[in-house]
Amino acid sequence: EASCKRFEIEAEFSAQVLPSPGVQSNKGDLGRLLLVCGSYGMAGACLMAARAALRCGVGLLHLAVEERIYPIAAQAVPEAVFTILPWRSDERACEGLLREALSKATACLLGCGLGELSEQACPPVFRHCRIPLVLDADGLNFLSRHPEWRRECQAPLVLTPHPGEMARLLGKGVREIQADRLAAAGEAAEKFQAVSVLKGAGTVITSPDGRTAVNPTGNPGMAKGGSGDVLAGMVASFAAQGMPLFESAVAGVSLHGRAGDLCAERFSPRAMLPTDLLEALPELFRGD
Ligand code: APR
Ligand code: MG
Repeated sequence: EASCKRFEIEAEFSAQVLPSPGVQSNKGDLGRLLLVCGSYGMAGACLMAARAALRCGVGLLHLAVEERIYPIAAQAVPEAVFTILPWRSDERACEGLLREALSKATACLLGCGLGELSEQACPPVFRHCRIPLVLDADGLNFLSRHPEWRRECQAPLVLTPHPGEMARLLGKGVREIQADRLAAAGEAAEKFQAVSVLKGAGTVITSPDGRTAVNPTGNPGMAKGGSGDVLAGMVASFAAQGMPLFESAVAGVSLHGRAGDLCAERFSPRAMLPTDLLEALPELFRGD
């Protein structure tokens, strides 16, 4: 019966379906997104996700970052407020800080560039998050290493793995994942009871209720480190603004690909950069 709910995303997926900033809205109405991302050596992943989330319209951005990247993060994202996580502590040192930050948020993105902070930062988020939670990169790797944490986590989940991360989540090989991408995304949605986004050309989005979408936008110029962080920030931004999770994932994937197509036209697939995607987003939203 899942096939009845399968649909192709239109190439001209419209920004009109996005949550709109009403005339008298204040910043709280546009959502409050918490990012638990970045680490020493991978600050850029956090910053690209943060800037993508802002470009997609979230009202307040809160970054929980480790102390060693705070100075550069504060400089790069002046719009954000910060929680500063102590480096080389254990999960208890982060617990209170992250619990407090989660209590004020409407969605959370965990994992972009989290690196060696993963073991101390992921457990508190899994334990205390009750709002939509987007897991990417090292958030997914943590779940692959510790699948038992899924039961501890009461948050509605979105997973955004590339084929390698999906292979680890399902305990399979990358070739097996790529041989039947619809089946892999469906299996992840079922196993983790999560909206599951299998990235790569023809990204597949599945929901535990059986809805499935395949994205036609995007191009090989996006296969560069950082593109995935931009996508994660976009999906989390829409979720923070109150858009349902399957729709947030579909909108994020579709618009991310369209931004990529604009950049390919402008700069060539070879020269385009993930940070160029951020600058292309305003053009997609103009005229809303
Ligand atoms: N067509 C459309 N979209 C594409 C294409 C394509 N041909 N190639 C890549 N993309 C999109 C993907 O769908 C996804 O949204 O670009 C994004 C790439 O995301 P990731 O694979 O997560 O890459 P990213 O995290 O930015 O960087 C890769 O992460 O896992 C590590 O070892 C990996 O260092 C590498 C880094
Ligand atoms: Mg990635």
